[in-house]
Amino acid sequence: MIPTERQAAAGDSGPERSLRVGVLTGGGDAPGLNAAICGLGRRLLPLGHRLFGFRHGWQGLIEDDAWEIEPREFSDLIARGGTILGAGSANPYNQPERDVPRVLETIQRRRLDAVVAIGGDGTLGAAQRLADEHGVSIVGVPKTIDNDLCGTDFTFGFFTAVERVTRCIDDLRTTAKAHDRVMVVECMGRHAGWITAYAGVAAAAEAILVPERPVELRELFGRLQVLRDAGHKSAVLAVAEGARLYRDGVLLSTTQTDRYGQFLTGGVARMVASEVQREVGWEARAVELGHLQRAGRPLAMDRIFALRLGAHAATLLLEGRFGRMAAMQNGEIADVPLAEAVARIRKLSDHFLDRYEAFFAFPNP
Ligand code: F6P
Repeated sequence: MIPTERQAAAGDSGPERSLRVGVLTGGGDAPGLNAAICGLGRRLLPLGHRLFGFRHGWQGLIEDDAWEIEPREFSDLIARGGTILGAGSANPYNQPERDVPRVLETIQRRRLDAVVAIGGDGTLGAAQRLADEHGVSIVGVPKTIDNDLCGTDFTFGFFTAVERVTRCIDDLRTTAKAHDRVMVVECMGRHAGWITAYAGVAAAAEAILVPERPVELRELFGRLQVLRDAGHKSAVLAVAEGARLYRDGVLLSTTQTDRYGQFLTGGVARMVASEVQREVGWEARAVELGHLQRAGRPLAMDRIFALRLGAHAATLLLEGRFGRMAAMQNGEIADVPLAEAVARIRKLSDHFLDRYEAFFAFPNP
């Protein structure tokens, strides 16, 4: 029986057997990853359990590249951006015949009782398969600035990314006004428009183009012309990197992916800016925010949110409730089956888009 925190605080001799837990941070990095690791470690280590950090996501388990995380490493961890473990999109199921056995060997060699996977749909998808197909004791923690994971109201990193994009759009207004220009701001989010929608509305963007709604550029041009006719000298448009742009019904925007199938950002804002400049005759410039949306320290709210998710992941594994993901549901910390989290990409709903259509339309001239 593993003692509870109360028993440990009462000076019990510690667990009958200390658990050996592996942790990895996979996929793109996100503000809050270190806070999640901190929540996990601060729950486990005082109980006498041991935490092993695997470098660069699943690659660390494939190559058995890890170190034992010590209490001193948690001191200011909650406040730091990035991840002390390193991130990465390696996935044992890219080459399962070779890499799944290597992951299982690492788990056996290190005598790991459990693995905590902190990541998005790719990382957690591999975690779910290892749990289902090989009985690995795994707990997931939802991480992505894209906020596109099912089973949780939000993912940590999202709030910090939205704040960063909102401030960038606010600031870009000054140069747009200085030059009577249209600034087209490209936001991350892969195939979901959460960041673009939240930051676009918060910063009063004159147009918000999200992947969930195909964009007929002729309509955009017409609405921008209405703004110009009404005397607007400048505008800032928020465009999702995965926006689907059509002109006269012909798809213009293309998406490339890297060797892991990850979405390569960039290009959509430049396309919209050049189209606006040519078709509306309004000078336009493109700004690709890129990895600034993932960089820097997390907001306080993301620090606390990620910490609580990491701590809940520790509770799940201490209670032997594996194959589940810590989550936020109706504002409370909860947990769901990993299978539910990775079933599909969670996109902006029609209900959301219809309800906030007024924000997506253009301000009254
Ligand atoms: O999934 C998070 C994310 O930032 C996406 O929004 C973006 O498209 C992608 O990662 C970029 O991946 P990379 O860091 O590999 O270029």
